[in-house]
Amino acid sequence: MIIAVDGYSSTGKSTVAKMLAAELSLIYIDTGAMYRVVTLAALRRDLIHGETIDKGALYKCLKDINIGFKYNADLNSYETYLNGEFVEEQIRSMHVSDQVSGIAAIDFVRDFLVAQQREMGERESIIMDGRDIGSVVFPNADLKFFMTSSPEVRALRRYKEMEKKGVKVSYEEVEANVRKRDYIDTHREVSPLLQTDDAIVVDSSEMTIEEVVELMVSKIKEIKI
Ligand code: DC
Repeated sequence: MIIAVDGYSSTGKSTVAKMLAAELSLIYIDTGAMYRVVTLAALRRDLIHGETIDKGALYKCLKDINIGFKYNADLNSYETYLNGEFVEEQIRSMHVSDQVSGIAAIDFVRDFLVAQQREMGERESIIMDGRDIGSVVFPNADLKFFMTSSPEVRALRRYKEMEKKGVKVSYEEVEANVRKRDYIDTHREVSPLLQTDDAIVVDSSEMTIEEVVELMVSKIKEIKI
């Protein structure tokens, strides 16, 4: 079984997908984390200067980027590794968040990651979240969800998350980052974020996470019958 969860950033996609994975015994794959790992690797190699990315050098170093996910039973979540190094926290930093849309807009980066994502779906039943899962990675997914909510609600959610982690950032900065990412994600030439006709739209602006999960579980059970 393959379940695709696409949508705007900070709509609660990954939280919801993780909860669904636990409830339905599926493997959860966070494809945004994969784009973030490539971004971190590019930053470490000093390949990003403002809006300019050294694509030639990035292309060459892709083969040296090995992305892994390990399940942490204590946290009931998957954590991200770059060549065996724990990078879960670093890939969520503002520095990476500011650059990741630029990296995700590069065609060869997408090809590199989409191939790995498809391989994961061949091996087991998965729930995968991202932007192009239902449109490009798995157009024949068993079920597709498209999550949305207002930019203000999303920015506030993200701001509170970061505040809790002790990250020093203003609400305005977070909202600007959310809006900038929405723009780039929906306007890029390669695999832009789009809602496919067969996706179930979930607007979480005025729903709790539990309500969203309940709605999605009921839709999944419908197809399993
Ligand atoms: O879900 P996220 O915020 O961690 O995603 C990080 C970035 O990666 C975001 O700008 C969109 C991009 N992304 C993408 O283009 N395709 C995916 N399948 C997943 C994420």
